[in-house]
Amino acid sequence: HAESLPAGTLNGRRVLVSAGGTREPLDPVRFLGNRSSGKQGLALARAAQAAGAEVTLVAGSMASGVDLGGIDTISAETTEQMHAAVLDHAAESDVLIMAAAVADFRPAGYTTTKIKKTDDAADPVIQLQRNPDILAEVVQRRAQSGGGPEVIVGFAAETGDDTHAPLELAEQKLARKGCDLLVLNHVGENLVFGQDTTEIHILASEHAQRMLGEAHPLHVTGSKAQAAEAVVAQAARLLSMPEG
Ligand code: CTP
Ligand code: CA
Repeated sequence: HAESLPAGTLNGRRVLVSAGGTREPLDPVRFLGNRSSGKQGLALARAAQAAGAEVTLVAGSMASGVDLGGIDTISAETTEQMHAAVLDHAAESDVLIMAAAVADFRPAGYTTTKIKKTDDAADPVIQLQRNPDILAEVVQRRAQSGGGPEVIVGFAAETGDDTHAPLELAEQKLARKGCDLLVLNHVGENLVFGQDTTEIHILASEHAQRMLGEAHPLHVTGSKAQAAEAVVAQAARLLSMPEG
């Protein structure tokens, strides 16, 4: 199943996309990070742009060689910076797609000088503190003020665990986050991260399912470009529907 996205579908619409991973500094030379390549987020930005949208990309760390050419990009290294950039632009956006891999925690302390190893001291322990949940905050603001993106899309990378399948975890996450669409990435050690092909499920909130009038989740396999097109097509269909 690959939904097509005709040129012009998103003419006059603003789409805000976050992509890549956030990095949380420990000291001037070290950080905690993740394996996000940013490719899926970039593909989403390109798909939205090809459909006529005015796209802003909030880019965390991306794999080397990823080409951001032609896309209006704001760089965000840390979750704090991504938080600020997304909240800054969310109010004026029609669609927010949070494809970034945002660090849930950051080191509780940052030392301005390089951490040294010493023989007389115990091995250091890194204490973590919670980061703000950017997606949840945009959803909450919209609920409170009625403003902000008409369509909010979250991502979930799930491996599943002993008791829950990835889809089950994604259903729970969709409900918890309160976004309109949630894209499930099936991840594992050699799956998805940094690869050009992908397998996703697109889940829709009850409200979105009613508006879209089709069975969810949608299963999409193929290139990240095809997956991106399917996600943006769903968001575009939600946008063009009269509120019901
Ligand atoms: N997200 C966010 N801010 C955070 C963490 C996550 O905006 N601090 C967004 C991600 O960009 C993604 C969605 O929330 O669109 C889901 O992220 P995920 O890490 O799967 O969900 P969490 O709620 O952090 O749950 P988990 O414990 O599974 O990591
Ligand atoms: Ca997380």
